[in-house]
Amino acid sequence: MADARLIAVVGATGAQGGGLVRAILADAGGGFKARALTRKVDSDNARALAAAGAEVVAADLDDEASLVRALDGAHGAYFVTNFWEHFSPDKEQAQAAALARAAKAAGIAHAVWSTLEDSRNFIPLADERMPTLMGRYKVPHFDAKGESDHLFTDAGVPTTFLLTSFYWENLIFFGLGPKRAADGVLEWAIPLGAGRFPSIAVEDIGRCAYGVFKRGAELIGQRVGIAGELLTGAEMAAAMGAALGEPVRYQALDPALFRSFGFPGAEDLGNMFQFNVEFADAFCAARDPARARALNPALQTFAQWLAANKARIPIA
Ligand SMILES: NC(=O)c1ccc[n+]([C@@H]2O[C@H](COP(=O)([O-])OP(=O)(O)OC[C@H]3O[C@@H](n4cnc5c(N)ncnc54)[C@H](OP(=O)(O)O)[C@@H]3O)[C@@H](O)[C@H]2O)c1
Repeated sequence: MADARLIAVVGATGAQGGGLVRAILADAGGGFKARALTRKVDSDNARALAAAGAEVVAADLDDEASLVRALDGAHGAYFVTNFWEHFSPDKEQAQAAALARAAKAAGIAHAVWSTLEDSRNFIPLADERMPTLMGRYKVPHFDAKGESDHLFTDAGVPTTFLLTSFYWENLIFFGLGPKRAADGVLEWAIPLGAGRFPSIAVEDIGRCAYGVFKRGAELIGQRVGIAGELLTGAEMAAAMGAALGEPVRYQALDPALFRSFGFPGAEDLGNMFQFNVEFADAFCAARDPARARALNPALQTFAQWLAANKARIPIA
């Protein structure tokens, strides 16, 4: 479509951005076209996006000039940073700052920044309920994103702040799926307490982002929280059991125990779960599945996602 508006997508070879590129390409008459930004234009994922109809251009979040070039001519831009590649909140904020400056320089009319809450607005550093990490964070991968929100506003970039949720794909890729307990029963041991917890199929994050771009000006300056469902840990375990054909027992772990597990990011995730549980009402209120479904009518439920993905969950 010659007059289609171009959306430049950071993270296009990954989960969130990939979902957005696929949503744009799947809606041929929708008035948008996709440019995939990547450091590795020859990777399999980048080639697949090109074959599907996206323009693929080189850009690196650590090279601001490359971002300005890659955003040239774009109407909109999707911005995501990948904390888990480097585990550095300072680097994540430097990348967000570069994105904000580049978006301003390129004259982006609508940016969508994939963000999360700054947990320190809920739990000040002096609060000893959970340890302070890396000197000035409670949940580093949340705080770095939330602390970066103002960079886009300060730079004068018309931005929608997209509050994402816990991916169901974490059951597949993050080692957070059910495991067989000593008594032989499958157990989902995770610090989710007894309350509700927002979660989502990651492909739906990109589809919701596409819905945000389609709505356009009405969502600029707004915080839009999305979730597929707001389920309790027990409800999620029951749904896994129904899909797997074998009962899954929910075990509410103590966040302090989770923090002690020792894998990279364990303390960050332990604090994250504790923050999500202790402020569940606010955390859920900020993520309305009905609002997500209005942006993305194909929004999946957990049962639908499980039906399509249960074979991918590694279970010993
Ligand atoms: N797991 C969850 O439940 C969850 C929930 C909410 C939010 N998040 C957040 O999601 C973020 C990760 O997003 P994702 O899951 O979509 O990532 P992902 O699937 O791991 O892919 C990472 C993407 O980021 C791109 N990227 C990373 N560093 C880059 C750089 N320096 N320059 C250009 N591109 C770069 C990669 O592109 P190339 O390698 O092709 O260059 C790739 O497309 C994390 O910050 C995490 O905190 C995760």
